[in-house]
Amino acid sequence: MNLSEREAAVLFHTYKRLPLEIEWAEGMYLIARDGTRYLDMFAGLAVNALGYAHPAVVKAIADQAARFTHLSNYFLQETQIRLAELITQHGGYERMFLANSGTEAIEGTIKLVRRWGSTRGKSEIVSISNAFHGRTMGALSLMDRPRYKEGFGPFLEGFRVAEFNDPESLRASIAPQTATVVLEFVQGEGGIRPVSSSFVQTMVDLHKKYGFLLVADEIQSGIGRTGKFFAFQHYEGVHPDIVVVAKPIGGGLPLGGILAHPDVANVLEPGMHGTTFGGNPVACAAGIAVIEEIIGKNLMLHASKMGGLMKKEFERLRSAFPAIIKEVRVMGLMAGIELNQEADPLVAAMREKHHILINGTDRTVLRLLPPMIVTPDQVSTTVTALEDVLEGVKG
Ligand SMILES: Cc1ncc(COP(=O)(O)O)c(C=O)c1O
Repeated sequence: MNLSEREAAVLFHTYKRLPLEIEWAEGMYLIARDGTRYLDMFAGLAVNALGYAHPAVVKAIADQAARFTHLSNYFLQETQIRLAELITQHGGYERMFLANSGTEAIEGTIKLVRRWGSTRGKSEIVSISNAFHGRTMGALSLMDRPRYKEGFGPFLEGFRVAEFNDPESLRASIAPQTATVVLEFVQGEGGIRPVSSSFVQTMVDLHKKYGFLLVADEIQSGIGRTGKFFAFQHYEGVHPDIVVVAKPIGGGLPLGGILAHPDVANVLEPGMHGTTFGGNPVACAAGIAVIEEIIGKNLMLHASKMGGLMKKEFERLRSAFPAIIKEVRVMGLMAGIELNQEADPLVAAMREKHHILINGTDRTVLRLLPPMIVTPDQVSTTVTALEDVLEGVKG
């Protein structure tokens, strides 16, 4: 039996796998069993900010694994403290809760805002259409897309959805009993769609008027990927009360987190929330190495420059292939190319013909989320390959 057959016999069939068997990985490349080197332009879906086998991350993991891999949250843990110090300091918050994954951090956030609202007569949670917040029941309750929800109800009570980039719909969704509004400032799975400035302005006005907690889901966009530490920092005058992070913060190991100011964070008292593996010392050690490298090497500025290059080049492709490319949306190293056709055949052609890995999302969007160490040459290689693939489908 080959790997696909063995997998089908033993694992739940929940993932559509790429037809690749990766033997090992280094830097920007994945190396398949047959020796083919694939340029990775989606970084394990925004997890591998420093690519693969980065020496600082490998060392941090090895050193910490040799000390201890788990203690339990009965113990003070220096790695948790150091990681939280780094993220709060660079993110502009004072407190952090450490979870294991994005969706689990979202669950914790739902508990936090409900608890906060419980003494204020506020319980309703507003989210935005076309969002993605994870696969657990709380996260699904925040989402409106049938593709993720069908057949899994009933969901949690007290949730409502405002239309993406529709200020009037947002206004109509908010009331005195609104405890929170949750949003991605740039939708990731939803097709790399940044929220509009007018939507954010309406949000800020409503936030001031009603005093709900504004939650930014920065799980995909956060920690420098967009060229700023958080994507919301691209907008004027907005400061979310809570920021949810995950993906790159564990250096490839499972880790998520909730950031808040003390007045909100202190709502959760000892015993009210917790998790066995949250803030695992090896994951935190890896995360410390990632954040120190991002800050020390100014990779946010690099992300911004590489994003600028991608935007310029993708816009050129849009002019050259107006019948195929509908819109280009780039925020640092989150890039979406919306097509007038399905994305999957182009993703496959990039992989098979050019050995470049990009991703398709929201059916018609080519998504690129390269590691933050991507070079101008690697961007050019990707653009040239994409041009060739677009020629091929032009018909
Ligand atoms: C914006 C956003 N929120 C939440 C999640 C869920 O994170 P996880 O897969 O770690 O549960 C994701 C994952 O893609 C995401 O992109």
